[in-house]
Amino acid sequence: MASDAVAVRPAEERDRRALAELFAAVASERDGIATEPPVDVAAWAAKWGLDGTVVAVADEDIVGELRVEPSWFGYGEIGMMVAARWRGRGVGSALVAAAIEWARAQGMHKLSLSVFPHNAAAIALYRKFGFVEEGRRIKHLRRANGELWDLIDMGLLL
Ligand SMILES: CC(C)(COP(=O)(O)OP(=O)(O)OC[C@H]1O[C@@H](n2cnc3c(N)ncnc32)[C@H](O)[C@@H]1OP(=O)(O)O)[C@@H](O)C(=O)NCCC(=O)NCCS
Repeated sequence: MASDAVAVRPAEERDRRALAELFAAVASERDGIATEPPVDVAAWAAKWGLDGTVVAVADEDIVGELRVEPSWFGYGEIGMMVAARWRGRGVGSALVAAAIEWARAQGMHKLSLSVFPHNAAAIALYRKFGFVEEGRRIKHLRRANGELWDLIDMGLLL
């Protein structure tokens, strides 16, 4: 369970800047998400799709977010992150649970995502909620340092 101090709710207009700052911080780790620095925080704040985004809030700080990007074809694509200092405390689980509930309420039939093979925490999190591995894209993403990283596709039928 997430710490009692953490609440999950739909994202609101006032969250834009904090969402973009969290995104920039996690991008700078160059490890879990595809985006790497530089991240234009103002631009990301302006364009962030709030519909389908849930946030985890602790003491008025955004400590995690999950966005479901709807497709035209009935499934939604997940992207998510938790602030480094808040990982391993159930925040990611609370976000995924909320996203599954939201997607079902939208009438989606499936959630899907892509994850780096080395991202053991994320893969364990998704498996815990019933996501299964559907395939692997070989050397799919070119990183800023020139490395080519595989991606694992995972999906959950709702
Ligand atoms: C992946 C991420 C979202 C997980 O969030 P989190 O808040 O740490 O997740 P939780 O604390 O809810 O843990 C979920 C499960 O993952 C597993 N887990 C957590 N940390 C782990 C680790 N370091 N290694 C292996 N498994 C781990 C546990 O099984 C846990 O379930 P349990 O506590 O019920 O046993 C977070 O690590 C993160 O934001 N990473 C950077 C960005 C990223 O990788 N995003 C996902 C891109 S696909």
